[in-house]
Amino acid sequence: MDIKDLIIRAREASDNSYSLYSNYKVGAALSTTDGEIFTGTNIENASFPASVCAERVAIFEAVKKGKKNFEALAIYAEGENYPFPCGICRQVMTEFSRDMKVIVARNEYDYVVKTIAELLPDMFEFSG
Ligand code: THU
Repeated sequence: MDIKDLIIRAREASDNSYSLYSNYKVGAALSTTDGEIFTGTNIENASFPASVCAERVAIFEAVKKGKKNFEALAIYAEGENYPFPCGICRQVMTEFSRDMKVIVARNEYDYVVKTIAELLPDMFEFSG
């Protein structure tokens, strides 16, 4: 999957952002190892903690369809800072593909690439 194409899919997904409280439009595009793409956007709520991030919407959409092997996840949000994923989303990402690339883009040309292992080296693992 071409990184630029994935960023464009994430930008398109951000058009459907429901973010009337923060006005921060986030889009996510997730590519699977078998070449599919799932997208997500942030969906806010009048009860603020009920809001959900774009990354988790994309990941849950893929898992719902039986896909769990991911190659890359692009996150797109325009603003001063790169849209690095929040801690909860990092933990969700580690559940599936630990060598997944995470691309954070603040426009189509300005982005940083990391792996989820770099972003969350010591994830919680259930051993109960
Ligand atoms: N947000 C995301 O979509 N992804 C993140 O990793 C961090 C934050 C959203 C949640 C909320 O709708 C807005 O950004 C401001 O926090």
